[in-house]
Amino acid sequence: MGLERLEEVRRAFLADLEAAGRDPEAVEKLRIRYAGRKSGLLLELTAALKTLPPEAKRDYGRALNELKKLVEGKLKEAAAAAKAAGGGGRAAGEIDITLPGRPLPRGAEHPVHLVRRRIESIFLRMGYSVEDGPEVEDDWHNFEALNMPPDHPARDDQDTFYLAGGRLLRTHTSPVQTRVMERSEPPIRIIVPGRVYRRDSDLRHSPMFHQIEGLVVDEGITFGNLKAALETFLHELFSGVDVRFRPSYFPFTEPSAEVDITCIFCGGTGCGVCSRSGWIEILGSGMVDPRVFEKVGIDPERYTGFAFGLGLDRVAMLLYGIPDLRLLFSGDQRLTRQFA
Ligand code: DAH
Repeated sequence: MGLERLEEVRRAFLADLEAAGRDPEAVEKLRIRYAGRKSGLLLELTAALKTLPPEAKRDYGRALNELKKLVEGKLKEAAAAAKAAGGGGRAAGEIDITLPGRPLPRGAEHPVHLVRRRIESIFLRMGYSVEDGPEVEDDWHNFEALNMPPDHPARDDQDTFYLAGGRLLRTHTSPVQTRVMERSEPPIRIIVPGRVYRRDSDLRHSPMFHQIEGLVVDEGITFGNLKAALETFLHELFSGVDVRFRPSYFPFTEPSAEVDITCIFCGGTGCGVCSRSGWIEILGSGMVDPRVFEKVGIDPERYTGFAFGLGLDRVAMLLYGIPDLRLLFSGDQRLTRQFA
């Protein structure tokens, strides 16, 4: 009894404290064992005071008070540390797998991607397959094989990003036509969605945008087939519109046609979107020029074909009423979230 006992309890407490670490449960047990109101060790030690001879009481009392202060102080510290360590009734480092998960915000598909998938599914049902090609191209595939030699004025329309070593960022998805025709035999029936690049940037132009290309090559393909395919496609994509073909020019098709639909905002009566014309231009198309066939090694006497190309971003803007092209590439989730 006496001072030795106090010292014994002090040491035991410090050892137990060390063992409890930051585990809230262990800290609480420690508190009950030493400072519990009903049967804590400190209570017991206080009660022992009475049994001491009067001359021993003073020193014992002082030592006991010190011990109480120490225990209470350390317990407070330990409880705070346990709480800071994440507590919640588990030891440090342990994971409570019964806790409900934190909900993650649900993502949404980008409108351009949505349009791409819609267009792909229409053509897949018509028996086309989806092809892909490089975004870093060479002059041959992007221009030359498409009947645009170096001095061809049509190159002016496509402000090109040139890279070192004569490479360039493809200015349209048409080079994939060239690649597929070089490596395969007709019949060919493909669509090619992808990114394209031009040095152009304003309300309606972005240096990177998306196109989808189409190519059909076989014996006996006519302009009638072109018309049927594109009318079917456009009626599926924009229900209830009229479609018209306008003569046009592309170096890689002959004859060529641009295709318009009646304005989906005013129904053809004329509004701001269609510049009061009632029509909206949607795509370029034409019969593959025999010179292109020659360049890629397909016999133009035996085969004919048609091709077309359209801008995906423009279609997304029309279908979803998006007013500014740059919104599509801003990365702003307030836009994409609307498509969840
Ligand atoms: N490559 C053309 C452009 O970027 C679009 C195009 C027009 C593609 C007519 C074609 C086509 O395949 O036949 O403006």
